[in-house]
Amino acid sequence: MQVIICESPEQVGSRAADIIEVRVRQGPAVLGLATGSSPSGTYRELIRRHREEQLSFSDATAFTLDEYAGLPLDHDQSYHSTIRREFVDHVDLPLSRLLTPHGDAEDLRAEAVRYDEAIREAGGVDIQILGIGANGHIGFNEPTSSLNSRTRVKTLAGATRSDNARFFPGGEVPQLCLTQGLGTIREAHQAVLVALGANKAGAVRAMVEGPVSAFCPASVLQLHPRAVVVLDPEAASQL
Ligand code: GLP
Repeated sequence: MQVIICESPEQVGSRAADIIEVRVRQGPAVLGLATGSSPSGTYRELIRRHREEQLSFSDATAFTLDEYAGLPLDHDQSYHSTIRREFVDHVDLPLSRLLTPHGDAEDLRAEAVRYDEAIREAGGVDIQILGIGANGHIGFNEPTSSLNSRTRVKTLAGATRSDNARFFPGGEVPQLCLTQGLGTIREAHQAVLVALGANKAGAVRAMVEGPVSAFCPASVLQLHPRAVVVLDPEAASQL
């Protein structure tokens, strides 16, 4: 695991964007996209490079990491809508090649299997962008998730529901979600995890310096041959 400590959140976005840009310029890339505030600076920087430096995503395909159960794709807070708002609608990645799990599928288990197979059929993810939850989750793989898990239905941890309650003013955060498993994420050829702020420092320490353990799902990246962790000083403060 390579750890890069930057001087500011802006530098984190730019450094992570550098790594993604290299892969995108090599030819048709399968991108793994994460939602959440951590990668938003990275997306902003990629959008800027698309507009100002001819970085094109027209040959790329994108798979999102996870989705709330029960929300239609076009729901304001679905991760499908979020990733469109934050990134996809601002670049030339064709919408038909933005693939997300359908949280409103009638049979969620079958949907999870279908999604996992779709990733495999696309040849796997070339570069997976990740954030980390304050409890060490990646995607929605909460603590105690199996290190070999595949895309599946999960119950959200209480801590994650409280962290995300701000996005559902006046409404309930869904209880269930679909998420790529830790085994699925580990198969990405390259992974770039971005973490910002002091409230991630404990999770970052557990991920980088702790044992590989289901209690800190992100620690599975220690087993990944090409994982890069990009941090601001606060997120790195307990290393
Ligand atoms: C969310 C997402 C994760 C994300 C994490 C951290 O619940 N499912 O993919 O990495 O929590 O979010 P943030 O970056 O906003 O702190």
